[in-house]
Amino acid sequence: MDANDSPSDDRSEVDAEEHDLDAPARDRTSDISGDVDIDDVLEDEDEDDNQGLFDDLLSGEPIFENKEVLRPSYTPHELPHRNEQINQMATILVSALRGDTPSNILIYGKTGTGKTASAKFVSKELESTSQKYDVPCEVEYINCEVTDTQYRVLAQLANKFIEKNRDVIDGRLDDLAALRSSVTEGDRTLADTRFDSLDAIDERIDTLEADREDMESVPMTGWPTDRVYSSFFEAVDYHERVVVIMLDEIDKLVEKSGDDTLYNLSRMNSELDNSRISIMGISNDLKFTDFLDPRVKSSLGEEEIVFPPYDANQLRDILQHRADVAFENGALTEDVIPLCAAFAAQEHGDARRALDLLRTAGELAERGQANTVEERHVRQAQDKIELDRVIEVVRTLPTQSKIVLFAIILLEKNGVHNINTGEVYNIYKRLCEEIDADVLTQRRVTDLISELDMLGIVNAVVVSKGRYGRTKEISLSVPVEETEAVLLSDSRLGDIENAQPFVQARFDN
Ligand SMILES: Nc1ncnc2c1ncn2[C@@H]1O[C@H](COP(=O)(O)OP(=O)(O)OP(=O)(O)O)[C@@H](O)[C@H]1O
Ligand SMILES: [Mg+2]
Repeated sequence: MDANDSPSDDRSEVDAEEHDLDAPARDRTSDISGDVDIDDVLEDEDEDDNQGLFDDLLSGEPIFENKEVLRPSYTPHELPHRNEQINQMATILVSALRGDTPSNILIYGKTGTGKTASAKFVSKELESTSQKYDVPCEVEYINCEVTDTQYRVLAQLANKFIEKNRDVIDGRLDDLAALRSSVTEGDRTLADTRFDSLDAIDERIDTLEADREDMESVPMTGWPTDRVYSSFFEAVDYHERVVVIMLDEIDKLVEKSGDDTLYNLSRMNSELDNSRISIMGISNDLKFTDFLDPRVKSSLGEEEIVFPPYDANQLRDILQHRADVAFENGALTEDVIPLCAAFAAQEHGDARRALDLLRTAGELAERGQANTVEERHVRQAQDKIELDRVIEVVRTLPTQSKIVLFAIILLEKNGVHNINTGEVYNIYKRLCEEIDADVLTQRRVTDLISELDMLGIVNAVVVSKGRYGRTKEISLSVPVEETEAVLLSDSRLGDIENAQPFVQARFDN
């Protein structure tokens, strides 16, 4: 860790890592300034019927000064605690500014560790430096979660280069037109130019116009892939340049459509005449290279850079930088940032989570018309984000898992404790019959319960029943009401009219 990286110790007496995450929100009213705003008092006095829908909301103290800064779409100009990784990238990519081909780079790190933000930062710097020194170097960023097939990646790249080539051609055509008219008007003589006749200029103009005409944009579907590839190839090679292609979420591309794209891209340099390309792959799946052809793997991983998770102190710095811009002065009580950092550090040091927490806490404070964001808002934000996650996970479960989960919920709602697999299975079977779903074996249902356990939706512990063997005791780890509502919003489970009798029958027997 270098000096820049170490957080100064005197910033706060509370060490975020020791922060008691489970403590109930303390009463912080003493922190809130007792100042009375005279405008508020006056407003209260002559309260009339003109209070509109937004008046109440507007009358509170503003919490945010610039909320955009906390959104995921915002690219920060400063990235504390990523100097080392940014320098590593720059050291490799600087070759591009010298006209050489940089090594390919593979960037790894868990989610929210700043990979995308750092890569975008470096690409901006690289492009602006290349403009400053007038060296032909370009960076293309592709998010492979969105652009996830070879066709789309190549088409997108082809079209970007075609567009750039057209701009270059237009620029040259303008220059030639200006040159031609200054020669015909006698302002310049042909001797100062690299053309020996007006015809030569016209010929050049014709060639460029023909080139421009030939550059046909690639449609987003429909062409054979090799035609798309050659369009891209010709477009990149149209003039001299070094191109860095950033493939973010590269694992998604490989997962969806194999490693053909990477294979083709990594072989291009041996065939290009004027240009060179270098690939930078970014992934949060450390294992994705296992699925790559060994040649692709070794070519892509010429250089590897790892982004380690942030610790709570680093997250605090990151949050503080953003909070200074995002919030009004004095809008945060002093515990807010350490607590957000501590919660996010538990989530494997995810800066995205930390920023989400801070933004959500601010929004909750705003909605509650509080004057400051307090510790309780952070705890509410944590609950809200966690609930949103659960809802999303439950919503996207396969139907069979939903039925199993619904069975567990029904048991729990009827006050059954220490639910075992057999009990779940009995209710599950009845539910399946009710909605005409296939009935899986008890073994498969046990597996589905284990999956729900891994997703953090239920908690299943194996208990020994002495000579009766072992069984699982299952309990719900998520809020019953909300989860049930999500399950019932599924069109198939929504058909279950009144599930209560199934469980009741079990007790009546
Ligand atoms: N060092 C940092 N300083 C300031 N903001 C940061 C830093 N690291 C990450 N962030 C912010 O945290 C959020 C997540 O970062 P980023 O998108 O770069 O993560 P990632 O590593 O690409 O994650 P994923 O693997 O999920 O794509 C972004 O809003 C980013 O701006
Ligand atoms: Mg990313």
